Amino acid sequence: MSRPEAEAAARNPGPLAGLDEWEDFVKDRYPQPREASSFRDYGDNVRPAVREFYRLNHRHQTVDFVRGKKQDFLRLNRRQMSIWEAMEFLNTLVDDSDPDTELTQIQHLMQTAEAIRADGHPRWFILVGLIHDLGKVLCLFGEPQWAVVGDTFPVGCRYSEKIVFHEFFQHNPDWNIPEYQTENGIYEPGCGLEQVLLSWGHDEYLYHVVKDYLPEEGLAMIRYHSFYPAHREGAYTHLMNDRDHYQMEWVRKFNPYDLYSKGHESPDVAQLKPFYQELIAEFFPETIAW
Ligand SMILES: [Fe+2]
Ligand SMILES: [Fe+2]
Repeated sequence: MSRPEAEAAARNPGPLAGLDEWEDFVKDRYPQPREASSFRDYGDNVRPAVREFYRLNHRHQTVDFVRGKKQDFLRLNRRQMSIWEAMEFLNTLVDDSDPDTELTQIQHLMQTAEAIRADGHPRWFILVGLIHDLGKVLCLFGEPQWAVVGDTFPVGCRYSEKIVFHEFFQHNPDWNIPEYQTENGIYEPGCGLEQVLLSWGHDEYLYHVVKDYLPEEGLAMIRYHSFYPAHREGAYTHLMNDRDHYQMEWVRKFNPYDLYSKGHESPDVAQLKPFYQELIAEFFPETIAW
C-alpha cells in the first residue's frame, strides 16, 4: 500500500466507526421476515453516526458525482490483484469499531459464502458470497464511507420515499433540477436498470471488476445487493424490464446470506483457504484489473 492509501485507510474517512456500522443498521431496519411482524421503527434510536453517514450520502450522490466516479474508477487502472489478494488488501481496512466483537472483512465474506455453501447452492453462488464486498477496497483508494457503502438508489429521477432518510435529499443539488425530479427523470419507462445510474459505491464498482467472469445472476447479486429500495421495498419497478425482474429474484435469494449469516460462528480462514482458492481459480484468471 502506498503512503497516502495507508493514511486514508487509517483515517477511514467518514462518520461511521466502521463500514459494518452501516450494515448493522440495515440489518436492524430489515429484520429477518420471521422475526418481524411489521416494519421496524428505526427513527428515534438510530445512532448519530449512522444518521450523519446517510446525510452525507444523500447530500453528495448526484448525477454528476456518479458519472465522474464511473469515469475515473471504471478505467480499472488502480492495480492488478488476484481475488485472494483483494481479500487480504480489504482486510487491512482499519475500522474504529471494536476489534474483539467485529469480524474481519475476510471472515464476513467467508461466513456469507459458507452459509450459501451449506444450503447446497451452485459453486458460482458460493463464490459470489465470497467476493460480494470486495468493492469496499474503494475505501483503501481514499474514498469516503458515503461513496463506498449505503443503500443504493437511482440518481437522475425522483427519489423514492421508501429510501431510508429520504428527507436528506432536500440538500442534494439535484433536488432543484426539475428534469431529475419527475418519476422517470432522464430515463424511459421500462428502460432497464442497465440504463439507470445508481448511486456510486462498492456494488457498481465490483460489478465492473468481475463482469467477464460470472453468470449474469451472480453479477446481479453483486451489482444490486445494496439496492434495498428495489429488492426489499419493491420501488423503481417502473424503470425495470423483464430481465431486471428475473435478476431481482436472485438478488433477493442472496440478501439473507449477506445480512443474517453474520454473528454465527466465525469461520476458520486458514482451514477453508484451499477450498476457496480452488473455487476462485475455477472462475478467475490469476490476476484481474481493479
Ligand atoms: Fe455489501
Ligand atoms: Fe456484505
